[in-house]
Amino acid sequence: MKIHVTDQAGETHELEGLEGWRVMEVIRDWGLNIKAECGGGLSCATCHVYVDQDWLATVGVPSEEEEEMLDTVGDVRSNSRLSCQILCSDALDGLKLTLAASAS
Ligand code: FES
Repeated sequence: MKIHVTDQAGETHELEGLEGWRVMEVIRDWGLNIKAECGGGLSCATCHVYVDQDWLATVGVPSEEEEEMLDTVGDVRSNSRLSCQILCSDALDGLKLTLAASAS
């Protein structure tokens, strides 16, 4: 599956993701500007992304714990998600998202 990620500089990258991988891991392993300090442990919010409006329903809503972490960043929006909490799957092939400033 492929994901399309716009970085903090406005440049879009098409990344190949593997089923079952966290979206954060794909972004990190392709060398984009994402800190992901806690490595996917849901305790840092430095994997913050904005999900493209067309993909919000497919990605689904964040868990309560994820919402609480998102509340700790200043640039949160209604389409904010933590990318370590989104798993790659065929249903998300073509997913579009943008890296938040607070992810860098
Ligand atoms: Fe820390 Fe996602 S990597 S919350």
